[in-house]
Amino acid sequence: MTDPKSDSKISALIPPDLSRFVREDIRRMKGYVPGEQPQGVPILKLNTNENPYGPSPRVLEAICAAADPERLRKYPDPMGNSFREAAAKVYGVKPGNILCGNGSDDILTILTRTFVPQGGTIASPYPSYLLYETLAELQGATFRRFSYAGNGWELPQGWEGSRPNLAYIANPNSPSGTFFRPQAMADFAMMLRRPVVFDEAYADFAPENAIGLVRDQNSFPAPIVVSRTLSKSYSLAGIRFGFAIADEAVINEMAKVKDSYNCDAVSIAAATAAISDQDYFHSVRNKILATREASVPRLQQLGFSVIASHANFLWVDHLTSDPTTLYQGLRAANILVRLMNYPGWRSGLRITIGTDAEMDRLFDTLAGLV
Ligand SMILES: Cc1ncc(COP(=O)(O)O)c(C=O)c1O
Repeated sequence: MTDPKSDSKISALIPPDLSRFVREDIRRMKGYVPGEQPQGVPILKLNTNENPYGPSPRVLEAICAAADPERLRKYPDPMGNSFREAAAKVYGVKPGNILCGNGSDDILTILTRTFVPQGGTIASPYPSYLLYETLAELQGATFRRFSYAGNGWELPQGWEGSRPNLAYIANPNSPSGTFFRPQAMADFAMMLRRPVVFDEAYADFAPENAIGLVRDQNSFPAPIVVSRTLSKSYSLAGIRFGFAIADEAVINEMAKVKDSYNCDAVSIAAATAAISDQDYFHSVRNKILATREASVPRLQQLGFSVIASHANFLWVDHLTSDPTTLYQGLRAANILVRLMNYPGWRSGLRITIGTDAEMDRLFDTLAGLV
């Protein structure tokens, strides 16, 4: 029962003036706004690039096995070594080249804290993944944008002499889905001579990646780090698991920065099972690639301009209809896509590739809206 005396004491307290306590830069910042995640609503979700197929059946077995009182009672392996060993075999590196993260956002936070001092600089092309800017704000660092504008989706020019503490290159990029070949990435790293992170959240849907550059780290003047996630190609967005691949010395520095137990026992077990089932991974990936390629002409027939994508989404703009109106029309039909507005750019729609049936439903609805 509530004690009426203590209750009145609580209501008499004046809410604290947070300006006296909370860091001023934190109070000023807006904070990263993640994509919408409606809960418990039957909606076709094509807004945050989740995989339309479930994870490998081996993942469910591993989660059930991990849900054991004796295992849950104890702390997990701080480094997630079972995952590191399984992933090292898949990528042709050593377990020591891999660091596990609570989603790849955790890896990006760890990288920022490892390389960027307060007052330092993070640089990235624009438009790209907006979290990089938030990470710079949290670190009290300056964020420098190199705009894609004017040269299509080629790597922006003008980085010479910029000397950032860290450069983030999302490759494939979001929202565009565009992609640079390893030679372009190598040339960029050579020119910049500063640490570069290739954020490869979508690389499993692209023909090549930067892992070879990490293997060849000794040829580069500064660290190269690849960041990966199991949220997209391995259908595990709900589990939260990402990882970095880098030279062992870089991984050792990053390990000092991470939370001691940044991945839990269930997620380590699930991620290890997922990465070990490469047959399942390839079959799902191939289905998504086929649906992506089949979707492009259908969107074009509906009057959309579509950028060639190397990811599991398409970035589209309609030649006559307003993207906000289309977004709202789809929403009214219980289809959620991502309306993205980058200041200085025309807004557009980013559409996650769903199953063939889901894409049919999208196209039928769009046909009634354009
Ligand atoms: C470019 C990019 N990097 C990283 C992430 C983070 O993925 P997660 O934290 O789910 O691993 C996303 C998520 O959408 C992304 O688009």
